[in-house]
Amino acid sequence: MQLGILTGGGDAPGLNAVIRAVVRTAIRQHGWPPVLGIPEGFKGLVEKLDPIELTPFTTRGLINRGGTILHTTNRADPFQYPAGENRFEDRSDTVLERAGELGLDALVILGGDGSHSIAHKLSNKGLTVVGAPKTIDNDVRGTELCFGHLTAVATATDALDKLHTTAESHHRVMVVELMGRDTGWIALRAGTAGAADAILLPEIPFDIDLLCDGINRRAAAGSPFSIVAVAEGTRPKGGEIAVLESAEGVYQARLGGIGALVADRLQHCTQLESRVTVLGHVQRGGAPVSADRILATQYGMAAVDALARGEHNCMVALSHERMETVPLEDVVGGFRPVPLDHPLLDAARQTGVLLAE
Ligand code: F6P
Repeated sequence: MQLGILTGGGDAPGLNAVIRAVVRTAIRQHGWPPVLGIPEGFKGLVEKLDPIELTPFTTRGLINRGGTILHTTNRADPFQYPAGENRFEDRSDTVLERAGELGLDALVILGGDGSHSIAHKLSNKGLTVVGAPKTIDNDVRGTELCFGHLTAVATATDALDKLHTTAESHHRVMVVELMGRDTGWIALRAGTAGAADAILLPEIPFDIDLLCDGINRRAAAGSPFSIVAVAEGTRPKGGEIAVLESAEGVYQARLGGIGALVADRLQHCTQLESRVTVLGHVQRGGAPVSADRILATQYGMAAVDALARGEHNCMVALSHERMETVPLEDVVGGFRPVPLDHPLLDAARQTGVLLAE
């Protein structure tokens, strides 16, 4: 079977580890020919960019490398492909044509919700596809864990640990804005591991007065400093999400600013000096942690195995520590929020973390 592979959407730690596992399983286990790496996501198919021949030799040393050797873009949806200023056109037929020219029997797509939506539509047009769930936000439906997420959590936890120093030394409130457009998985996990005093999530719009009261109570009880972890997509009760750049054409809005807003309000109501740190793309960078390397290896192997079994139009998923496949139609069109009865929320409440709900 001639496999192609591409990486779509934002980069995440573990993409290269999945590529490596796909290549090794396809060639070593199934005896298939070298895998064709499609550069720059779907753009590489639409623009007919030269593929990269991937073998166990050319993917050597990849398991711990961040980013993606294939490069990526989140501005190349073939169904709404850029065609000049604010103009988009359907180039999906070119994708199928290119897959035919390259002799692809199947395409492995590593991406988040957007890439899986594209994969689903291409599959309905006749392309054989299998996806694997990538995103630091951990919000892809159908799986318990996306690769890249745990590395982002480790990076954010490290940042929270370090910010404790200044918070404690200066008696300050340190607000950390973390990634998470629609879901607060990073903020909840890193906030728990990094001992944040308050965790604010998109799933639970926050009450600023409750947050102020909680931080003032901490100060009165002898801790005149606090660490607040806030996901970028969080909004105050009755308020709006903070947007840096509004949505443009088919592209989503760039979020940002909620951390500064929270810090500003807290400085007024607590009289404690407040500062904000926006961690941003630091969370997407660097080597994947060991758990992500393992998960990526499992996902890569499972994607090839699914194709070998004749399965397609599906995504490989983690369920109770095992690999399974879920139909793409169950993955697309939404995201996976932190359930309001999640045990970690319970742990936060019981250990006195402010959720300001
Ligand atoms: O989806 C992952 C993510 O990191 C979001 O948390 C964030 O809002 C977005 O990507 C940023 O995307 P970009 O790098 O295109 O600005």
